[in-house]
Amino acid sequence: MEPPVPIPNTAVKRFSADDTCGATCRDNRTLPGALLFLHREVIQSLKNPAAGTFQSDNFKMDPKFQSMPNIDFQIHDLLASRWSPRSFDANKLLDIAVFWQLIEAARWAPSASNEQPWRFIAGINFNKSHGMILSTLTPGNQEWAKHAPLLLIAVAKLKKNDTPNKHAFHDVGAALQNLNLEATTIGMHAHLMAGFSPEQVRRIFHVPNEFEPITAVAVGYYDHSRPVTDKFKTRDQEKRVRIKGNELVFSEKWDSPITRQK
Ligand SMILES: Cc1cc2nc3c(=O)[nH]c(=O)nc-3n(C[C@H](O)[C@H](O)[C@H](O)COP(=O)(O)O)c2cc1C
Repeated sequence: MEPPVPIPNTAVKRFSADDTCGATCRDNRTLPGALLFLHREVIQSLKNPAAGTFQSDNFKMDPKFQSMPNIDFQIHDLLASRWSPRSFDANKLLDIAVFWQLIEAARWAPSASNEQPWRFIAGINFNKSHGMILSTLTPGNQEWAKHAPLLLIAVAKLKKNDTPNKHAFHDVGAALQNLNLEATTIGMHAHLMAGFSPEQVRRIFHVPNEFEPITAVAVGYYDHSRPVTDKFKTRDQEKRVRIKGNELVFSEKWDSPITRQK
């Protein structure tokens, strides 16, 4: 396996902690973080927000610049910007149009035989349903997820006609990733959770047997006002790690890495 190809300097600009945004961000704020990657497309969309998927506000408000993933190969900034924070701002409520925008994104995910096995239970802006979903989360997740204005339980429809749909979980995951990325485009964050009680969800929301609650999701805006000593802000700043690409891909035989010849 050859070493990863370095990201070309023409595509990426690295800023140091002392750099300022200058004209790019329309003011001279100091950039928080030593490793901010700015892709040309993002710079372009900052200059002309209507032309790109990123809005300048989203970009400059994200406190997580220093934890943008340490990528080995250039990927789209939308993907590089998605992450799972715990510091949600309870004062920033969810616009109902934004809620439907997120569901729309989920709706357009691919699925086996176009079965669309995803269903969602939603709790919006701390309403009764929000409290009910919150009560099903593990205490550790409740502690931070309670501040997110949108809580979801993603539910899988387990059967297609009368036969098990073994792709149902996969397809619900695809829908959630669509939702997650759509949230990222508008400066929001989605944090998925396995830490909840599916049995409790089934019971309190009367979920029929042919459906299974599989993932809880907290969606909201980042709370910038928290001090750096805040427990969850500290966790948010932990290094993000990934298995190397060449340990994930095999060729010809299991565990046999891909080579240029193959
Ligand atoms: C299916 C699933 C379940 C998860 N469950 C939890 C959870 O219960 N609590 C939590 O804090 N994070 C949870 N996470 C978030 C992961 O810890 C997080 O995605 C992972 O550490 C990678 O970080 P990143 O999303 O910021 O890249 C979950 C993520 C997924 C996809």
